[in-house]
Amino acid sequence: MTTVTANGKVALVTGANSGIGRVTARELARQGWRVFLACRSGEKTRPVLDEIAALGGQAEFLPLDLGDFASVNACADAFLARNLPLHLLVCNAGLSGKRGMTASGFEMTFGVCHMGHFLLTERLRPRLSDSAPARIVVVASKMHRWASYMTLDWVQQPSRTPGTLREYCLTKLANILFVRELATRLAGSGVTAYAVHPGIVATDIWRSLPGPLAALVKRFMVTPEEGARTSLHCATAPELAGESGRYYDRCKAVEPAPAAQDLHAARRLWEASEAWVRPVL
Ligand SMILES: NC(=O)c1ccc[n+]([C@@H]2O[C@H](COP(=O)([O-])OP(=O)(O)OC[C@H]3O[C@@H](n4cnc5c(N)ncnc54)[C@H](OP(=O)(O)O)[C@@H]3O)[C@@H](O)[C@H]2O)c1
Repeated sequence: MTTVTANGKVALVTGANSGIGRVTARELARQGWRVFLACRSGEKTRPVLDEIAALGGQAEFLPLDLGDFASVNACADAFLARNLPLHLLVCNAGLSGKRGMTASGFEMTFGVCHMGHFLLTERLRPRLSDSAPARIVVVASKMHRWASYMTLDWVQQPSRTPGTLREYCLTKLANILFVRELATRLAGSGVTAYAVHPGIVATDIWRSLPGPLAALVKRFMVTPEEGARTSLHCATAPELAGESGRYYDRCKAVEPAPAAQDLHAARRLWEASEAWVRPVL
């Protein structure tokens, strides 16, 4: 496998066309990474590719709809076909306030933020291991603290709560449990995993709020540049090379809620997710 990049490193960032993912991808490219922007829309990703090109960076668009297993597999196939190493996977894409089910048959938030990323990670895991040292960064949220424990009885039904708040909090808890179990399963492979709370960040994730309210609350939030700091720290800080499975807020490892430290729940979530993706692996 050959790489022609300024620092010899290759990254794939999901949801890199806006918000935290856009800044994460741009700053990695600025540091010399070759960056793959795995996003739903080529048109919406074009301005980010142009921005990175203007910095002299290397970036490429890969189509990805995390709600559709066929699209996730096509994205993984397209990346693997390039025969490049992979040193960093940033599972960043997310949504809130959108009700319904994904094309793959999961509740919308869980299906996109957890199941799509689970399948993508499974498909890219061998390449990450072959490229070790390598890292997986999963963008979770402090809102996991509002979920008292992980349950799976709701994840194959349409969203139930009006603003999908419960679904969002449980999904972000799933993101942290996923990182815990990844750390266990990847121990000794040279691939390490990190869960992140980015802060309360003024991005499009608030698009479901009424316009004037969104504009008002965004004034009290941090910028996407600040929001990307912890993802970038977990992706690149040399002092984190020996850490895996932890949860980071403002670039520091902190204890997540007790429900996010439940190793049995982490294993149950993994086993269920593995069974759900098995038919398409
Ligand atoms: N903003 C905050 O305050 C905050 C706080 C805690 C955690 N987070 C987390 O931070 C991450 C990034 O969010 P953000 O705040 O930067 O929001 P954002 O600007 O709305 O970005 C979300 C990204 O996810 C993509 N996405 C949504 N559904 C997708 C799908 N089915 N397949 C592929 N990509 C999809 C979006 O693409 P489209 O443009 O095509 O929709 C967009 O690129 C999310 O995981 C979010 O939960 C955010």
